[in-house]
Amino acid sequence: MELDFTGAFEDRAYPILASLVCPRPIAWVTTLNEDGSVNVAPFSFFNLVGTEPPLLMFCPGDRDDGTPKDSARNARDRGEFVVNLVDEPLAEAMNRSSAALPPGESEALRENLILLPSSTIATPRIAGAPASFECTVHSIQLIGQNRLILGLIQRTHVRDDLYDPESARIRTDLYHPVGRMASPNWYCHTGDQFEMIRPA
Ligand SMILES: Cc1cc2nc3c(=O)[nH]c(=O)nc-3n(C[C@H](O)[C@H](O)[C@H](O)COP(=O)(O)O)c2cc1C
Repeated sequence: MELDFTGAFEDRAYPILASLVCPRPIAWVTTLNEDGSVNVAPFSFFNLVGTEPPLLMFCPGDRDDGTPKDSARNARDRGEFVVNLVDEPLAEAMNRSSAALPPGESEALRENLILLPSSTIATPRIAGAPASFECTVHSIQLIGQNRLILGLIQRTHVRDDLYDPESARIRTDLYHPVGRMASPNWYCHTGDQFEMIRPA
């Protein structure tokens, strides 16, 4: 099959592309609303894009009426956000937090999420997350309905049990992030890994 997502298959772009480009990592993003309440929402158009300096991106799509999602609006207005990673114990709460709530209602409160203060920004992080990245907004590009938000990682928090101080590496045998698979509702476990040594 040859598919043109800029033409005849335009309305199939999301279900087909999002089902092909997977597994994707999930950013569980905390931002501060205008009234100071904490907004929480997941985004799988997300990745690490560099380390010098540490740089990540997530990309909320605009709502059908052309307005930005709350996470995008808050990141733009405040200039900061936190990406919390998601492992299996957090998966259900992450999924529930994607529901659109009426303005003023906080997903963090509804999910009884324990929030901790960040070290370098005002936006708090999620206590149970295996890792959280405090980010300042580097830049935002509006490309069609995509708001590509680039964030500079100012501070990283890793759950104590996942960090091995001797090797200064992550205990990958203990870290099992959830992966986003086919649209609309599929995910994968990441417990089944294999090693390939890179050629010299
Ligand atoms: C696993 C998962 C991944 C998602 N990824 C995205 C994404 O990459 N871009 C997007 O616009 N919405 C994505 N969504 C939907 C948003 O989470 C949802 O629209 C949410 O209500 C946005 O909240 P906000 O308005 O508080 O930012 C995803 C939902 C789930 C469950």
